[in-house]
Formats: sequence, C-alpha cells, structure tokens
Amino acid sequence: MIAIPSIPGFLKEPNGPIGKPVSRVDGRKKVTGNAHYAAEFTLPDLAHGYIVSSAIARGRITRIDTAAALALPGVIHVFTHENRPSLAWFDRKWKDDDAPKGAPFRPLYDAEIHHALQPVALVIAESFELARYAARLVHIEYEAAPHQTDLRANRADSFTPGKDKGGFQPPPKPRGDPEQAFLDSPVQVDAEFTQAAEYHNPMEMHATTVLHHDDGTLTVHDKTQGAQNCHTYICNVFGLAKSAVRVMSPFVGGAFGSGLRPQHQLFMAMLAATQLKRSVRVELSRPQMFSFGHRPETIQRVALGADRDGTLRALIHEAVQESSRNENYVEIVVNWSGQQYKCDNVRLDYTLTRLDVHTPLDQRAPGAATGVTALEIAMDELAGKLGMDPLELRLRNYTETDPNTGNPFSSKELRACFQQGAERFGWAKRSPAPRSMRDGRELIGWGMAAGVWDAMQGQAAAKAVLGVDGKLGVSSATADIGTGTYTVMTQIAADVLGLPIGEVTFCLGDSSLPTAPIEGGSWTVSTVGSAVKAVCDRVRSQLVTLAGKRDDSPLKGVAEEDVLFADGHLIVRDDPSRRLSITDVMRGSGTLSIEEEARALPYLLARARHTFATHSAVFVEVRVDEDLGTIRVARVVSAIAAGRIINPKTARSQIQGAVVWGIGMGLEEGAFTDHRLGRVMNHDYAEYHVPVNADVPDIDVLFVEEHDDMVNALGAKGVGEIGIVGVPAAIANAIHHATGVRVRDFPITLDKVLAGLR
Ligand code: MOS
Repeated sequence: MIAIPSIPGFLKEPNGPIGKPVSRVDGRKKVTGNAHYAAEFTLPDLAHGYIVSSAIARGRITRIDTAAALALPGVIHVFTHENRPSLAWFDRKWKDDDAPKGAPFRPLYDAEIHHALQPVALVIAESFELARYAARLVHIEYEAAPHQTDLRANRADSFTPGKDKGGFQPPPKPRGDPEQAFLDSPVQVDAEFTQAAEYHNPMEMHATTVLHHDDGTLTVHDKTQGAQNCHTYICNVFGLAKSAVRVMSPFVGGAFGSGLRPQHQLFMAMLAATQLKRSVRVELSRPQMFSFGHRPETIQRVALGADRDGTLRALIHEAVQESSRNENYVEIVVNWSGQQYKCDNVRLDYTLTRLDVHTPLDQRAPGAATGVTALEIAMDELAGKLGMDPLELRLRNYTETDPNTGNPFSSKELRACFQQGAERFGWAKRSPAPRSMRDGRELIGWGMAAGVWDAMQGQAAAKAVLGVDGKLGVSSATADIGTGTYTVMTQIAADVLGLPIGEVTFCLGDSSLPTAPIEGGSWTVSTVGSAVKAVCDRVRSQLVTLAGKRDDSPLKGVAEEDVLFADGHLIVRDDPSRRLSITDVMRGSGTLSIEEEARALPYLLARARHTFATHSAVFVEVRVDEDLGTIRVARVVSAIAAGRIINPKTARSQIQGAVVWGIGMGLEEGAFTDHRLGRVMNHDYAEYHVPVNADVPDIDVLFVEEHDDMVNALGAKGVGEIGIVGVPAAIANAIHHATGVRVRDFPITLDKVLAGLR
C-alpha cells in the first residue's frame, strides 16, 4: 500500500463543515427565481431561432424553399446548408472533450440526412412564436434512402471498437477457459437481456442565448456541463479568438450527461449571432430533445456456471450496443462483470452496431447502469437455481482484489453495504420461494442487487481570493447540474480556512475561470474539490506566515501544523487563548487581499496500482397486482460506499434521484422507434414515461463508513452515478420473487409481467 501523507490541519478542525448536511448555498436563488438559466438572458435586440427537423431518417434534401417563411413580416433569415458560411474544415476542429472516435456531426453541413429529426434549417425571427410558425412554412423535399434503426435486426453486423476516449477501456482479455468451464458447471444460467434506448429528458430543455455586444464580443449562455468545452468548440468551429467569446452556464436545470458535449442549439445560436451580428436565442422543443444523444439500446448475454456450493466457475458477458455511422460511441458495459466477483474463467465481449441514428451519449452511470443490470439479474437467477439466498451467493464470490487487473481496491466496503443494507431492509425475514409473500391481491417481492461505479479523478485548477474583510471567493470553471457543486466546494473551502459557510462564495460555470474538465463521471468532488482544497491550503500557509511575522504576535514562531483554523481565527492548537482573527492578521500585516491559484492532480502512482470504485447494495420491495400486473415499488434501501461523504444532505439527494431514475429504467423508460420511419414514436413527456411522485416510494439511503487515503486528499469518491447502478436489477429480481415471472427485457412494463402470469 502506498501511504499518502495527510495534509496538516485538514479535517482536524473540530467543527468544520465537511461531513455536515449543509443546505444548498444556491437553494434560495433557485426557489426565488433568481437563478437564471440559458434561455432567460436577453438584450433589447434579441432575435429568436427555431430549428426545422428532418422528416426522414436517411437520404438527402433535394430542394429547400424558404420563400413562404421569409415572406412573413418579422422573419429575419432562414439558415440552411445552402447559405451557411464556410466553417472549420478538419474533423478535429469539431471535436470536443467528450467526442468519441469518428467524425462529429456538423449541423447544416450539406444535403445529407443521417438520422431522424436532424436539424436541417434555422429560422430567425423577431419573436419565438413567429420563428416557430415560420419553421412550418419551410418547404423541404427529400430523396429518402433505406435506413437501419433496428439493433436486433442488425446485431450480427457488429464490430469490436478499439481503445478510445478518456475513460474507455476495452474488455480485458479472457482468462481461463470460460466455455469449457461453463459446460462443466453443474449449475448454469444463460440468458439474454435487452435494454431500450433512454433519453436524458432534463426538465430544462437545451438552449443557448448568444448576447452580441457593441464591441463585437459575445457572451454565450449555454446549457452545458462544460463551459470551457463549449468555448473551445465554438472558437474552433467559427474561427473566433478565445478572448472574444465567453461561455456561461452558472445554472443548469438537469443534464445527466446530455450537456457533456456541445449540442446543436449552441452551433445554431452562434451561427445566427455571428452572421446577423445580433443577439440570438435558440431553444429546443421537447420533441427536439429526442434529436441527439441517448443511452444506447443494448442486447446482452450473460452466462454463469457455478458449483453446487455457489462458487462461480464461469462467467461470460457479451454486449452489443448501437452507435451512429459517424462516431464510435463506447461505454463500459461488460468489464464490471470481471471486477465484481471472483471467477477464474471469464470472457467479456463488447461490440457496436452502426445504425442510422444520432451518436448515443453518456447518461448517468453509462455502461454500468446497463451492464450491471444484466449481471445482477443473472446472479439472482443463479441463486434461484442453487436454492441459495441471493445475498449469500454474492458474499460467497466476494473479492477483495480486482480480478480484471489483480490489483487491490483503494478501499471497498461493499461487504458493509450488504450487511447494513440488509439489516435496514429486514432482508433476513424474506421467505425464499417466489410467490410466497402476499398482502391481499398484491404479491410482494423482495429483491436485491449490488452496484459498482468508478471513482475517477481528473485535473483541475482553482483560484482563491481572501479579502481583508475575511470574505473568501473561490472559483473554477466546473458546473453544477443540480448535484450540489456550489455547496460542496463552499464547504471544502470553508473547512480548510475555518470560515463560516456564509463568508465563502464559490463561482463556476464560466469559461474564463481556472481550468476544469467537463462535469461528469461522478468525478467533480474528487477533481475540483481537490483543487479547491489545494488553493485554500496555500492561502492557509500564507496566513500562518503573515501571522507569525510581527514580534508581538501571539502566533509568533508557531509552526503551520500547530495552528488551527476555526471561527475565522488562527488558533494555537495547544493553547487556544493564543489566537488572531484572519482580519487582524491581514490588517496587521498591511495585506488587502491574498490571491492564490492551484492545480490538483490525481495520485497517479496509487492509481496505477489500485482499482478505485464506489460500491452499493440495493434492496427493493415491489408489490404486483396479480390480476392487473401493475407493479409498484413500495420501498428501497440503498447502501452506498463512496469514501468520505462531504455533504450527507446533497449526497442523499443524489442517491435518491438516481434511485428514482433506476425505477424509471426498470419499469417505465424506453424510446420506441417505428423502424418503418426510423423515428422515435414517443418523443414527448406524455408518451415517454418517467417516474412521477406517485411512482416513488420511501427511499432509504445509508452511507457506510469507508476510509480511503489514496483516492484524493479529501478521501471522497463522488456519488452522482452509483445510486442508479443495480436498481433496475433489484426491481427485476423483486418482481421475480413476487410473481415467479422473470422479465429480462427493459423496461418491465405490466404487459410483460401479465404475459408471464397467464
Ligand atoms: Mo454524467 S453521464 O458523466 O453527466
């Protein structure tokens, strides 16, 4: 084990805000309407754009007639591929920080249609309503070409993608002899699972307002998880100087991954603003939210072989996912199966099939949400065949090291998740046989699953400015998509410098701030939090130096590690009567402000030799109406191991939100394509179902204690995504326990359960 020295002073403060359930520092702004979103900014001459979407899934535009739209008074311009200006030529200029291998989609590039709802024209008018109406008057003729949108029909035509994108690792090479070991196993499970495509559907639709200033500079208010990612993209695409453009996204109304890449409304608003030299807003409609990225449809096979005592002998996991023709969208679906359980004979395969669709996109726990679902249902089926408790089967095959690499985990308290979660849920009272628990007409089922997600860290910088008034401003160009970034960063800064929360302000969502990566992968606490801590540590050192300078100072000659920071004071640890306020330290030394900037990097040496992951155990009770097949999730216990929890209140919200999504993924969500048209049929909130209040039961979240001094200087792993992983499986397993019906096709709608009950 590599010992990472703990930094003096940090987390030794007796009453620091780390670990406290601090309410959102931006909460008041949000509930009073003072948090402004991308489509809410304006200037007096603001023009409005509305996008025309393709009516076909593949082919080309043969004629585009904008005369009727342009004839309307108040319609300013219609942009099409025929009149767009010349833009960046090379693919690399169109790439962004989340772009997979391939050629990024270019809006209004030429007459070719690559997928349904592709943006094909942009109408600019004096009002939104006029632009929307005029968009219907744009007359487009197409020459349709045959399209393929059906993964099932095209699955044989798949290929193995290579290594790509920051986090993507192809599956590890097979170990042992999985095929033979499977055949030799006395107990076997071999099943196929299908997962429907899911769309992100944040409450706030994607929108961009470009404010065109008199000096020609642009302020771009965009809905994004990466202001700097979008900044680089538009400067590259439009050939603009970086200093002439500033991208802002201080508030984001949900994203879940949809804002990881610049989306086409950004391009459209920029196109119009730069060409017309005026301010422009472009907002997508709800149906147009189905015109880009989604969690890809997936078909999986999991085969497990075990000895009669439950020891896993063979594990085979294959997945095929859809991608577009132009990019290889890849996610880690099957690798988790080789990491979660001890097994000597393992084969993991991951392939892609190209379809005529927009490139899929990361969506909350991309890959794990899908892959772990299949694995954890197969484990439940295996437990059934063995006549073994599903929890016991998981403990039987528990691993303390990562079998994919042979490396130890930096920390892994999954066992504690199992134990504490089971106890909270009352798992011991479960009667093992399916259909053995009932309450009137309702069949009761108890199911469980384990979850896993990465504990990643990137590089980020942060800046701190401490004023003589004792107020601290910290900033970094990260995002807060509702996850609590503002609050958590404020806590970390306040903790290091012993300041009250109210004296600290954290700024984000602005491309001009110190560099931070896109906000995703549950890595923001780790990545940006480490930078915030690093920069505040520097301010802390400066204060200690300043405090010791004067001969009459009570802190004269005191070493930094002997100084405590609390209540806005520097206090000698062993003699609290010797103290100075931060304000006095600064005044006494004639310092008006202390300014520092710092970068934080992952502990690369530790990362090379360990696996870093968060873990979970999910327990679910469902109630199924035997006559009607209706499925209700009655309660959920989610036990999470994610290192130190900086803020149990915002962290709990993350897990609860993710569990809600797990219910959606399990029971409701799916985008269904009419393959004759190549179009998603249910592209609105009426027909694309997500859980509403009535679908969401009591969700009990518990964080098990997990100490990790290798993950980062905070010991925190991040909780944005782990909460969804395993939930669909636990629901499916509970449904099986309730009814005896095994559904492996997501979402598990009541028709599928009823078909099994008949
Ligand atoms: Mo998350 S899918 O990395 O926004």
